[in-house]
Amino acid sequence: MYKNNYYYYLLLLIFVAGCFVVDAKSLDSVETVAAKFGVPLNVSYDHRSLIINGERKLLLSASIHYPRATPSMWRPVLEATKAAGIDLIETYTFWNLHEPTPGTYNFEGNANVTAFLDICAELGLYVTVRFGPYVCAEWNYGGFPFWLKEIDGIVFRDYNQPFMDQMSNWMTYIVNYLRPYYASNGGPIILAQVENEYGWLEAAYGASGTKYALWAAQFANSLDIGIPWIMCSQDDIATVINTCNGFYCHDWIDVHWTAYPNQPAFWTENWPGWFQNWEGGVPHRPVQDVLYSVARWIAYGGSMMNYYMWFGGTTFGRWTGGPFITTSYDYDGAIDEYGYPYEPKYSQSLEFHTIIHAYEHIILSMNPPKPILLGENVEISHFYSVETGESFSFLANFGATGVQTVQWNGITFKVQPWSVQLLYNNVSIFDTSATPIGSPVPKQFTPIKSFENIGQWSESFDLTFTNYSETPMEQLSLTRDQTDYLWYVTKIEVNRVGAQLSLPNISDMVHVFVDNQYIATGRGPTNITLNSTIGVGGHTLQVLHTKVGLVNYAEHMEATVAGIFEPVTLDSVDISSNGWSMKPFVQGETLQLYNPNHSGSVQWTNVTGNPPLTWYKFNFNLELSSNMSLALDMLGMTKGMIFVNGYNIGRYWLALAYGCNPCTYQGGYSPSMCQLGCGEPSQQYYHVPTDWLMNGENEIVIFEEVYGNPEAITLVQRVIPYTNDCY
Ligand code: GAL
Repeated sequence: MYKNNYYYYLLLLIFVAGCFVVDAKSLDSVETVAAKFGVPLNVSYDHRSLIINGERKLLLSASIHYPRATPSMWRPVLEATKAAGIDLIETYTFWNLHEPTPGTYNFEGNANVTAFLDICAELGLYVTVRFGPYVCAEWNYGGFPFWLKEIDGIVFRDYNQPFMDQMSNWMTYIVNYLRPYYASNGGPIILAQVENEYGWLEAAYGASGTKYALWAAQFANSLDIGIPWIMCSQDDIATVINTCNGFYCHDWIDVHWTAYPNQPAFWTENWPGWFQNWEGGVPHRPVQDVLYSVARWIAYGGSMMNYYMWFGGTTFGRWTGGPFITTSYDYDGAIDEYGYPYEPKYSQSLEFHTIIHAYEHIILSMNPPKPILLGENVEISHFYSVETGESFSFLANFGATGVQTVQWNGITFKVQPWSVQLLYNNVSIFDTSATPIGSPVPKQFTPIKSFENIGQWSESFDLTFTNYSETPMEQLSLTRDQTDYLWYVTKIEVNRVGAQLSLPNISDMVHVFVDNQYIATGRGPTNITLNSTIGVGGHTLQVLHTKVGLVNYAEHMEATVAGIFEPVTLDSVDISSNGWSMKPFVQGETLQLYNPNHSGSVQWTNVTGNPPLTWYKFNFNLELSSNMSLALDMLGMTKGMIFVNGYNIGRYWLALAYGCNPCTYQGGYSPSMCQLGCGEPSQQYYHVPTDWLMNGENEIVIFEEVYGNPEAITLVQRVIPYTNDCY
């Protein structure tokens, strides 16, 4: 019965939330809020909070990366975010997206950062811009353009002149580009970040690293933008605000205030989920734990908290970092990859935010009180307003097990393990553990189209090599990260049937062929038995090494290398120095088969045989309608890349997920818990944004590396997870 009631209540909430999302008119008067922008704001701070035009702010913030959605999604996603009680949007800017070659800039399509900021301003949302320029973010090369690596003598993120010169050029450019958008000039941006978690890697750079961190802060301050600069996880610099990143940050506040008593407590990354790896389960962090962490944070004096990611979206094209991160960047965010509220996370957060905002005047009216211990693992942080006589308290049980019964103010409270109750005037009005632990509402899709008359074109092994060397060459020096693919070809002498080929030192993935015949695929250290058709004698070994995203978190990223490294052995014979021919790109890329203007340049046949290294082309008609949210269900395929009307949707890989663990977050969550979807493909559905589709004729091109049954692919519609009445 209780369960039934709960579901009824949940459905109601979902319905209400759904209406918020799509009906802009129901938002709390967008126009009135927008009026606060246009005039310069004075943004300052003290130890308690950010202060805007003299007013203290308790800021609830949400990470949304503009290039991880397409422009038509920005408004509904931001509206749904605003409707959930969020005040502040946090985004990085992405150097490699905006400056693809030195001195040429791209702000088109989903790189149109000012169009995104315009919507934030219009909706009355403040913004934090994290300029980096190193951003991590599961973004290719952590945001660094590949050309940066090719500058002589460069050492990334170090006190190194070539790097600092490039960093200042870009930072000056982008900071000036956004100048009208700082609150000091009447825009929505109230905080700016330089670098990203450098403190975690600083030691690896020794004294030079410490000098660099100081320089980065000084340089940022010299750009004079009239709003505070922050650095996250950087506790050795006094001239910018140091902020926390983590699953929980309340214990950090005291440490922070001891070092910097005049800085407010800001939490730049509260991870409400996590990113997904290929072959990994779908990360999931229950909303009960997320809100527990936020409540603890505010109770201890935090005054800005950001969900990283609130809406994760999709990492389109080849922008996913590495190694081995999925195209979906859903992140278990409160708004899902497709822009819909993800329940119960969205509605629970909305309710929690509404309460916090309703009583923030009490919370911010004083310094955080010292928590009072009421029982085993139970404490209360009791805020009261001298001015109004109201009180607001956080009653927390930080024990992993056991319901505790405690007395407060003459009243008995039962407190669930790992929970916080919010008390207004000593009456409990919200319990972070209240949503029963259970499965989140699964994301569902319905097929709307299967494809006919599919064209097929297979790569040939008649390759024109561009490089020769005794040993296999490093991949990135040849591909310059313009493609995932590099062919390595050599002659081998097989001495017995069933010989063992070993490639213990590859950076990512290989597809191995002998005499044009597919043998096997390997990820990481690879040992392959050559099958019985490979007889004794001379053969050609053809290995396609596939780079799956450039590393986004590491020390000395300028030293990143990829490809096949020595030794390569056949049985006990080292064949590394056999003489190798190499060639970047697969032919279909060179011919630009993914581009509708060029796809007609080859003869497409009917689907037959499903060989490896094959391109498939689907032409189809579509009647677009306003609330379409589409994906490709790629079940039946193996690994490759998807293009829609020339836009790269991203890498796909149907590798099965494994390694899911029980959801025992009480006591402390980590991403190795609570994953979903083990035994299923780590990513089956690939978001196709309607911005990239046309009403009428469309063309999808798929490059399959291994094996695929393209006839099984379907275009699917994301099932909108609540009633249609709102639409
Ligand atoms: C943080 C980093 C973010 C993101 C996150 C994991 O350490 O600052 O950019 O990479 O980890 O999703």
